[in-house]
Amino acid sequence: MNSTKIKNILLEVDSSEIKRIFKEAKAVKQTTLGHDVYLRGLIELSNICTKDCFYCGIRKSNRSVNRYLMTKDEIITSAMFAFEKGFGSIVLQSGERDDENFIAFIENIIEEINYLTSRQLRITLSLGEQTTETYKRWFNSGAHRYLLRIETSNESLYNKIHPTEHSYSNRVNCLSALKEIGYQLGTGVMIGLPFQTIDDLVNDILFFKNMDIDMIGMGPFFEHSQTPLFGQPVDIANSPSQLLELSLKMIAATRISLPKINIAATTALQALNPFGREKGINAGANVVMPNVTLTQYRKDYLLYEDRPCVNDLADDCFDCVIKRIEMTGQKVALFSNGDSLNFLTKNNQLL
Ligand code: SAM
Ligand code: SF4
Ligand code: FES
Repeated sequence: MNSTKIKNILLEVDSSEIKRIFKEAKAVKQTTLGHDVYLRGLIELSNICTKDCFYCGIRKSNRSVNRYLMTKDEIITSAMFAFEKGFGSIVLQSGERDDENFIAFIENIIEEINYLTSRQLRITLSLGEQTTETYKRWFNSGAHRYLLRIETSNESLYNKIHPTEHSYSNRVNCLSALKEIGYQLGTGVMIGLPFQTIDDLVNDILFFKNMDIDMIGMGPFFEHSQTPLFGQPVDIANSPSQLLELSLKMIAATRISLPKINIAATTALQALNPFGREKGINAGANVVMPNVTLTQYRKDYLLYEDRPCVNDLADDCFDCVIKRIEMTGQKVALFSNGDSLNFLTKNNQLL
């Protein structure tokens, strides 16, 4: 799909035409990837962060955050919960740290999870910008997928939402390094940022295409009162319902443009509407990421306020997600690792 067609989707206002676009995107997903929806268990292992992104509630300058690092045993317990429930994979996510203690801690956890599950649980990392050497170390320990959102593909907008010491080109270089090493590569953007335009979102989808991305995790931006972006006007969506619709159009346009990739219906969609994730699946998403972090830590991983599932147990989220996915007429693919078809095709790994 070219940029004009993508832009037309994002600007569409006619509700029956929007419904038709979502139906088309879901049909593309079903024709290419079948009825399966994959689960990724999200483990938010630490909110300690050395960076200061202007949008994020756990940025280092937010002194009101109660900082934590889950213990190795707690992380393994969460991973084993996901494994035993039949999740094909987990995501280890955290604030960004690049000290040797942290790097070795993660290395050790990856090795232990692989040992305990006989490498049957795919491990995705979402641990921010690191050196190529660190990415290699974690890959060699047995983590083979990485999620690093570009946040926005517009460099000048990127610079407006980050302090000067954060670098857009470094983030792009990290994505290239991850691909080169052999990771299944995930990225994504926030939708509805202050200063963002519809053209920026069109270019985001073209960026996913040009970078040959395997997985997308994108979702709405929410302001957090303890961050510099709080109170900034947003031009492209003025209400939660508009932001939801725009986020769903982004999913649909991405699916129609890139049929073979994995696309997550993120928890942030659920913050806009109780059925936000189901709507994401109905607009072409094929991945859901239930939170399996121990409940005691969830209230301290507030990227934005009013996050869903903060007081729920991992078991509650599991049961809830299964029922909700079935409501969309799709099938939860338990005990399946859900590799990205885009990745398998280009690496000739299809059976
Ligand atoms: N520190 C790592 C990084 O930044 O890549 C991983 C964790 S970070 C919390 C994961 C994602 O949360 C970011 O890529 C960003 O898109 C998202 N995020 C942070 N603050 C947000 C907000 N206020 N609204 C929506 N998403 C947000
Ligand atoms: Fe840290 Fe990631 Fe939040 Fe930025 S988005 S402040 S790197 S946790
Ligand atoms: Fe957490 Fe529904 S996914 S309770």
